[in-house]
Amino acid sequence: MDPIKNPFSPGAGSPPPELVGRDPILEQARILLGRVKQKRPEKSMLLTGLRGVGKTVLLNEIDRTAKAAGYRTIAVEAHEGKALGPFIAPHLRTLFYDLDRMAGAGNKVKRGLAVLRSFVGALKLTVNDVTLGLDIEPEKGAADSGDIEIDLPNLFVAVAEAAEERKTAVAVLIDEIQYFDQKELGSLIMAMHKLQQQQLPLVLIGAGLPILPGLAGESKSYAERLFSFPDIGALSEQDAARALRDPTRAVGVKFEDSALAEVFRLTQGYPYFLQEWGYQAWNLAAASPITSAIVRRATEKVIPRLDQNFFRVRFDRLTRSEKNFLRAMAELGHGPYRTGDIAEALGVKVSSLGPVRAKLIKKGMIYSPAFGDMAFTVPLFNEFMVRAIPEFK
Ligand SMILES: Nc1ncnc2c1ncn2[C@@H]1O[C@H](COP(=O)(O)OP(=O)(O)OP(=O)(O)O)[C@@H](O)[C@H]1O
Ligand SMILES: [Mg+2]
Repeated sequence: MDPIKNPFSPGAGSPPPELVGRDPILEQARILLGRVKQKRPEKSMLLTGLRGVGKTVLLNEIDRTAKAAGYRTIAVEAHEGKALGPFIAPHLRTLFYDLDRMAGAGNKVKRGLAVLRSFVGALKLTVNDVTLGLDIEPEKGAADSGDIEIDLPNLFVAVAEAAEERKTAVAVLIDEIQYFDQKELGSLIMAMHKLQQQQLPLVLIGAGLPILPGLAGESKSYAERLFSFPDIGALSEQDAARALRDPTRAVGVKFEDSALAEVFRLTQGYPYFLQEWGYQAWNLAAASPITSAIVRRATEKVIPRLDQNFFRVRFDRLTRSEKNFLRAMAELGHGPYRTGDIAEALGVKVSSLGPVRAKLIKKGMIYSPAFGDMAFTVPLFNEFMVRAIPEFK
């Protein structure tokens, strides 16, 4: 059928034709935004889930909801090895200028800029700015201790006070938040702690891999009282069917039930894979309905595509010993995997695996769903590892 009319949207952060199965999360976000705007306490949200489940899509949706509710938003994506301070400062500067243009009296915006200037000064920022072009005297002692766990909370309070003065609220949306180091994550948590105590209108909504709750808890034990960690998972069989059926029905095309069952078996309901299979099946079908035979032909296209892109980009970032570790996991079938079993498959002692395991966690390839267990952060990665390295040992 006409590829131009193909409703499916496989990609990173590309909005799906139907955002299926996420109503409870969106409702939770709506309540959070509504309550904080009215200065009622509510836990901030950190969405956690594997690769390709739709975290970025949800953050973008929440961004829209926040704007519609009268929030000013900052939406950013963290990167491995990039520090929080220099990364967030330019966005806050834009926000302050934005607030400055809003009607309202008072000096909190000017003060906020002075606090930001003090924060930036302490970072010794050199990123295309020296002073970020902030033509204002720093407020000495406000956010310039050089300790991010002290400075960031002070800065966020100044942001929220400025927003409050202009009768608005701020939502800070951070994607891939697991890439911040422990101290930076700690500073965000402490900032939220302070804001909540002062009932200031700023919410933090983050998204990241399932290592996030653990990281946050290690950083600050009270994190669980400040944040909820909604688990963004694969879709149920019913929702997966809707994700395929609803967008095609809108243009008069049907899926046979057996075709839907086959896609679910292959994708296990993971949103990104649903989009891939839907996309290829649409292109291959000559007419409605899309049958299971078409789905099987789509599979022949999808698997090599995934192998060359989605899986391969991650595989290529691994060292030899990291690949071996992951291949040993794959040898053990579907996870989670006991560390002891992985060591045995590799023929080494458990204690010798620590460094490789730590690197793989840092790279966001694996995480520990429970003590002593390991699992892939990328759905179906075990099957890919076997295709990529057919011979183990
Ligand atoms: N609820 C949903 N129903 C159907 N498809 C969805 C849903 N949510 C997301 N998708 C699709 O899944 C794909 C991945 O979405 P997204 O990039 O938001 O995932 P992610 O969790 O951010 O992944 P990563 O961890 O790799 O960044 C996109 O193609 C998107 O259209
Ligand atoms: Mg994402």
